[in-house]
Amino acid sequence: MLKLPGLIDPHVHVREPGATHKEDWTSATASALAGGITTILAMPNTKPPIFDEQTLTEGLTIASQKARCDYAQYLGAGPDNAAAVARLAPRAAALKMYLDSTFGELRLDDMTLWLEHFRLWPGQTPIVTHSESRSMAAALWMAQMFDKPIHIAHISLREEVLLIKEAKARGVKVTCEVCPHHLFLNFAGSYAGAQHCCAPPHPLTGGRKEVRPRLATQADVEALWANLDVIDCFATDHAPHTLAEKDGENPPPGFPGLETILPLLLTAVSESRLTLDDMIEKMVTNPRKIFKLPEQPETWLEVDENARYEIKAAEMHSRCGWTPFEGWQVKGRVTRVVLRGREAYRDGKILVEPGFGKNVRT
Ligand code: NCD
Ligand code: ZN
Repeated sequence: MLKLPGLIDPHVHVREPGATHKEDWTSATASALAGGITTILAMPNTKPPIFDEQTLTEGLTIASQKARCDYAQYLGAGPDNAAAVARLAPRAAALKMYLDSTFGELRLDDMTLWLEHFRLWPGQTPIVTHSESRSMAAALWMAQMFDKPIHIAHISLREEVLLIKEAKARGVKVTCEVCPHHLFLNFAGSYAGAQHCCAPPHPLTGGRKEVRPRLATQADVEALWANLDVIDCFATDHAPHTLAEKDGENPPPGFPGLETILPLLLTAVSESRLTLDDMIEKMVTNPRKIFKLPEQPETWLEVDENARYEIKAAEMHSRCGWTPFEGWQVKGRVTRVVLRGREAYRDGKILVEPGFGKNVRT
C-alpha cells in the first residue's frame, strides 16, 4: 500500500449553476474524491458565469451546501469587471481569463480588455489564462509589463512549453499546467506513448475527440514529456459533457478527467516515464504554493500500486457517463481517502455527505 498526500486539481468545471445535467457540486466532488483529489479549484464558465459579487456569493452558497471535498471558486474576467473582481480577489481561487475560443461566454477578444485586468488584479494569486500559442505569448508579455504572476492553463504545444522555459529562465513570474489528455493522446485521438504495455483499443472519433486546446501532434506530446521540469502542475481540466452531447450535432469541447488522472500518472510512474516525487510536486506542493492553499491536516490517500485494471466510465462518479480513456489498462488504484480526519472514500464508495467540503478561502 502506498500512502500519498491529498491531491489538488487547479482546473475543474463543476457545471453548477446552469448545467447540472452534465455535473453538479455533489457529483463533481464525488468524482474528485474517487480520483484521490481532495481540493478542487472550480472554473467560472458556468451559466451564469461567476464574475461579480452576486454570482460569486450564489456560487459559493451552492458549493457550501453540496461539496464533498475542499474547494475554491475562480472569478471570470469579463469586458467591464476588472475593478470588481480585483476587490473580490481574497474570496476567489484566482482570476480566469479566456483569451481563445472555447465553451462558455467569457471570451475577451480585444487586448485592451486584458489590460485592465492585468493592471488591477492584486497578484496574491495568479491570473490564469486560457491562451494558446501566440495569445499565450501576448499574455506573458502583459504579465511581465504589469509584474503580475501568470499561470498558463492546459499547455499542449511544443512552442508553448519552450517559450515558457525561456520566460522562466529570464525571470518572468510564469507557471503552467498540463492535462493528462495532452500527455497521453495525440491529435488522431490515439495513444501517444512510446512503449506502453497495454495500448488502448480504439482511437477517439467525432465529437468525443473535441477538446480545447485541441489534441496536438505526436511531436508536441513528446516535447511536453521531454520538458516536464518546466511544467509546474498536472490539472485535469475536468470538462464533463454528456455522451449524447458529445455524439450529437455541434459537440461541445471537453473531457472529464478527475477519476483518470491518478491511475494514468501512476501507470507512467510504473513505466519510469515520471517519478512519484515529480507527481507529488506537480499535484500537491506546487499547486499549494502557486494558489496559496492551506495544508489539509489528517488528509491522505491509500493506493494499491500493483492493482491492474481497465478504466470504465460505468464505474465512475461523474454524471457525464463517459471517458476518453475507456478500455485503457492502468496500474494503481485509489482504495481509501481520508479528508480532515474523516474517511471520505473507500473501495468505490463515497462516505462523506454533501456539505462536508470546505471553502479554502474562508
Ligand atoms: C471547457 C469546458 O467545457 O468548459 N472545455 C474544454 O474543451 N476544455 C472549457 C475550457 O477549459 O476551455
Ligand atoms: Zn477548462
